[in-house]
Amino acid sequence: MNILTFDSDAKLNEAAANIIIGQIQTTPRAVLGLATGGTPVGIYKQVVKEFERGMFSFRNVSTFNLDEYVNIPVEHPESYHSYMKSNLFAHIDLPEAQCHIPDGNAADLTEECRSYDEAIELAGQIDLQLLGLGHNGHIGFNEPAHALTKGTHIVELAQETREANARFFDSIDQVPKQALTMGVGTILKAKKILLVVKGADKADIVKSALQGPITTDVPASLLQTHPNLIVLLDSAAAGKLA
Ligand code: F6R
Repeated sequence: MNILTFDSDAKLNEAAANIIIGQIQTTPRAVLGLATGGTPVGIYKQVVKEFERGMFSFRNVSTFNLDEYVNIPVEHPESYHSYMKSNLFAHIDLPEAQCHIPDGNAADLTEECRSYDEAIELAGQIDLQLLGLGHNGHIGFNEPAHALTKGTHIVELAQETREANARFFDSIDQVPKQALTMGVGTILKAKKILLVVKGADKADIVKSALQGPITTDVPASLLQTHPNLIVLLDSAAAGKLA
């Protein structure tokens, strides 16, 4: 595991964007695993800025998002479909057929999960997976539990997760209760993982995830077993590391 700490948000975003861009420059047909949430917004902005300078192209890239809420209209401003469009996809040359986000409105959600995993496998697995970290240690929407699920599945969002995401909605009642998420098995199969964490409110969970015991109670702790993990932290998130 390689942990890098940054004293400014701009430097952290630049470092993360450079890792993504480097992946595309060395592997033009890269398969990227993408995240949503507050953490990657500045990273995507920086990626778009470099894209506009003509430094690389998404023409042959494929992307797979980690998750999507269940039963939220695709055009809802807080759906992850909308998020990806406004933060990244609308600004780059990635063909629509090569962007994949689980369909939380599918008539058969179990079949949707199965075909999502199949599509990832057909694409040849993920070259670089971008991850944020939940306050409770979740990655994707793999919430703390006795047992974790390998592939894409339907998940009940933890109360803590709904509270954290309420900031994007008018009230917590509007935060969906379920989501589809890639499983930890698929996440851990990614050839390279880029975990990005920002903020003092995540310092405790960063410590547990990176330096605590490996346990399903902290799903992100499983990342310690990954052979190619890069962690980018701001100084506040790194504040409790030994
Ligand atoms: C998002 C995702 C989540 C977030 C996590 C942190 O696609 O899978 O695991 O990365 O909840 O969210 P933020 O960045 O909003 O603190």
